[in-house]
Amino acid sequence: MLLFALWWFCILAVVRASVTVYGQIPLGITSAPPATATLPAAYNTTVLNPPPIPDPAPPTSFTLSLQSVNTSVSSGLSIPIQGTFFGFSVEMSVITQLFGKNSSFLQVPLLNLLANIQERAGAVHVRIGGNTQEFAYFVDTLPENRAISKEKADTNNPTQTPAVIYTMDLFYLLSNISSLVNVKWYIGVPFNDTSAFRFQIVEFGEAVLGDNLLGIQVGNEPDLYSAHQHRNSSYSPQNYANEFGELVAALAADTNVTARDNLIGPSVSGTWTPEMVWNTGFIGQYTDNLGALSVEHYPTDNCFPIYGIGVFHDPQTEFSDFLNHTSPVALCAPYLNSTAIAQAAGKPFLMFETNSASCGGFPGISDSFGAALWALDYGLQMATSNFSGALLHVGGQNVFYNPFTPPPTNESKYYEWTVGAVYYSALISAEVFGKTNTSQIIDLHGNEDNIFTPQYAVYENGAIARVALFNYVTDPSGASQYTATITIAGGTVPSSVQVKYFLSDSVSTKTNITWAGQTLGTTRTVDGRFKGTLNVVSIACDTSANTCLVPVPAPAFALVFLTPAEDIATVTFSTSTFTNTANTATVASAVLATSNGMSGKDWRLGSTSAGSVKSSGRRYHPNVVGIMIGAASTLLVHRLLK
Ligand SMILES: *[C@@H]1O[C@H](CO)[C@@H](O)[C@H](O)[C@H]1NC(C)=O
Ligand SMILES: *[C@@H]1O[C@H](CO)[C@@H](O)[C@H](O)[C@H]1NC(C)=O
Ligand SMILES: *[C@@H]1O[C@H](CO)[C@@H](O)[C@H](O)[C@H]1NC(C)=O
Ligand SMILES: *[C@@H]1O[C@H](CO)[C@@H](O)[C@H](O)[C@H]1NC(C)=O
Ligand SMILES: *[C@@H]1O[C@H](CO)[C@@H](O)[C@H](O)[C@H]1NC(C)=O
Ligand SMILES: *[C@@H]1O[C@H](CO)[C@@H](O)[C@H](O)[C@H]1NC(C)=O
Ligand SMILES: *[C@@H]1O[C@H](CO)[C@@H](O)[C@H](O)[C@H]1NC(C)=O
Ligand SMILES: *[C@@H]1O[C@H](CO)[C@@H](O)[C@H](O)[C@H]1NC(C)=O
Ligand SMILES: *[C@@H]1O[C@H](CO)[C@@H](O)[C@H](O)[C@H]1NC(C)=O
Ligand SMILES: *[C@@H]1O[C@H](CO)[C@@H](O)[C@H](O)[C@H]1NC(C)=O
Ligand SMILES: *[C@@H]1O[C@H](CO)[C@@H](O)[C@H](O)[C@H]1NC(C)=O
Ligand SMILES: *[C@@H]1O[C@H](CO)[C@@H](O)[C@H](O)[C@H]1NC(C)=O
Repeated sequence: MLLFALWWFCILAVVRASVTVYGQIPLGITSAPPATATLPAAYNTTVLNPPPIPDPAPPTSFTLSLQSVNTSVSSGLSIPIQGTFFGFSVEMSVITQLFGKNSSFLQVPLLNLLANIQERAGAVHVRIGGNTQEFAYFVDTLPENRAISKEKADTNNPTQTPAVIYTMDLFYLLSNISSLVNVKWYIGVPFNDTSAFRFQIVEFGEAVLGDNLLGIQVGNEPDLYSAHQHRNSSYSPQNYANEFGELVAALAADTNVTARDNLIGPSVSGTWTPEMVWNTGFIGQYTDNLGALSVEHYPTDNCFPIYGIGVFHDPQTEFSDFLNHTSPVALCAPYLNSTAIAQAAGKPFLMFETNSASCGGFPGISDSFGAALWALDYGLQMATSNFSGALLHVGGQNVFYNPFTPPPTNESKYYEWTVGAVYYSALISAEVFGKTNTSQIIDLHGNEDNIFTPQYAVYENGAIARVALFNYVTDPSGASQYTATITIAGGTVPSSVQVKYFLSDSVSTKTNITWAGQTLGTTRTVDGRFKGTLNVVSIACDTSANTCLVPVPAPAFALVFLTPAEDIATVTFSTSTFTNTANTATVASAVLATSNGMSGKDWRLGSTSAGSVKSSGRRYHPNVVGIMIGAASTLLVHRLLK
């Protein structure tokens, strides 16, 4: 009956409008599936103890003196950073679950989650690849018109990721996503066999994605090929460089490929240093072919419980390693030589895959508010270190660190999506850098460089624009809240600043997380749209004393806007078909809701206390809806209901 109703609705909707957005949870199905004994890692409910208040406690009051304008080359500011800095790296084998079954079935919550970032950054960068890219191969068709399918082919790999088989429809799937949300793609070319390259992914990727194809990764963690028995035990950086050359030559002979300057390598993961590859002459030799230089790195691993490899890391013991500024700085230090080399060579330097720990992350850490603070600090530190981008890895149900997780296919009728805390890190970093492509960031080292209270300043078009303030301490008493006094050298503070807070009760929490008062929801309740009332706190400054006093609770992150931010207008894809009228069934339901009233004209001064409501609102932009319908005229946006 339900399926019939659904089918009927589908036909009706197709007749009425060319784009249909289907519901996430059909009305009438209310009972949950039987509870399973052990929840998959993505839903693990472990909550760790927050570390004790540091002794000595960080000073709770300090001053940050910021140059109003800084265009000097020796300013210490980073290179210009784009709002797209943080993107996502999607393991090829989970594309069906995350993106949709094929080009006519897209996952609506994913579109919303990507749209949230696009609104702030202008675009979203997504890589498809990972261990599964190496053995991937093309076929004309797959059963049930799937775009992608799995084949267990690689038992030597400790992460046991299956090889994937894909059809032409994979590219239409990606392209159809890009037609709705401005997603730009990195793809990986299979590199398991350098005597018989499989270039279909490059040929079709280029042909179908056009300008939405950012680049082609050549080799995923080649420094682990030997360990994974993909190459012999003497496989060296020089061997990799030679093979890269073989690929360049083969690609030059492929008349179906036109772009030859968008290759990305070497994506080494730490077993080889990047310098070991630079020392082969890699950059000079392939400078015409390299679009970017890349590395991949996880700070630690949780391989022991699954594979018995390495040593056991106790999550409770590891937690404090993620809860201060030492880790982000230490993670970037080994790459400073390489980011300088990349700048000199005129190449972007990318962290192509990262997250809290390899082999799926840690229960209690990877999806906690603390991990979100850490990931944001790490991202800002990478930007400070002149990386041009970083991709947070997304795996399947069996990992702890996902920024977002769809329900398992057999449970998609009962549950919605789950957002991991690090999704907020990516979203917030998009607001830290914004859309101007001129943002330059610097680590301020204020408060005597206390590791629990790092701060950054962001300059836009050479002028101070935003200040980012972290407090890693968990202290329910309120005694560890600090106040940062911002003063402007060579200028005066504005009459007020606007502050967005990233808050939760503790670094341990996983579900009660808000950004500027709004949340995406708890486990299995996420449709990708923010819930709750936007709360941007306005703080009056003392212009005669040239000071703005910004309180930062423990724990929290605060983004201080010294100049009004751009209006953020959210295109959302509704999933409420079955609880609403016919109007919501069509893409007229692609409601454009503003999550933010921060354009010049909407700039409103509100209460000065944290927690008070400043503004909220929902606006509809009919002209944009019209554009969307036009752009997607043959597309059926549909939730996979199997
Ligand atoms: C979905 O599949 C998983 C793994 O096969 C199983 O544990 C779970 O119980 C299934 N859920 C339902 C609702 O059948
Ligand atoms: C969380 O994951 C850990 C490690 O796999 C496991 O020991 C624990 O039982 C899980 N807890 C829950 C509540 O699922
Ligand atoms: C700005 O420029 C001055 C020199 O003019 C320098 O001392 C200072 O460190 C620079 N950087 C920042 C972020 O203020
Ligand atoms: C490379 O992968 C393809 C597709 O999975 C497979 O057919 C081929 O045997 C592999 N070659 C090597 C040398 O591993
Ligand atoms: C996607 O799959 C559905 C169901 O199998 C099928 O009806 C549809 O034609 C497929 N779309 C494409 C583009 O293959
Ligand atoms: C969406 O996918 C279909 C194939 O299913 C294709 O015909 C169409 O051109 C795609 N649209 C875009 C914008 O790529
Ligand atoms: C190992 O493989 C490389 C190419 O990847 C080759 O040059 C070298 O001779 C091989 N070494 C042995 C011992 O087979
Ligand atoms: C180019 O593509 C066509 C079909 O798409 C194929 O038949 C041909 O072999 C390809 N050419 C090369 C050089 O790969
Ligand atoms: C930076 O890398 C280059 C190229 O590998 C190397 O020659 C140089 O010694 C490195 N410098 C430092 C300070 O590590
Ligand atoms: C800070 O983090 C580092 C590693 O990132 C860790 O070694 C150190 O113990 C932490 N400091 C404290 C006081 O927790
Ligand atoms: C980043 O690059 C800028 C511009 O070249 C340079 O001034 C700055 O020192 C670099 N930062 C780091 C941390 O290497
Ligand atoms: C959620 O956070 C708010 C604000 O920090 C707090 O008042 C509330 O008690 C928390 N709720 C839960 C269920 O932890």
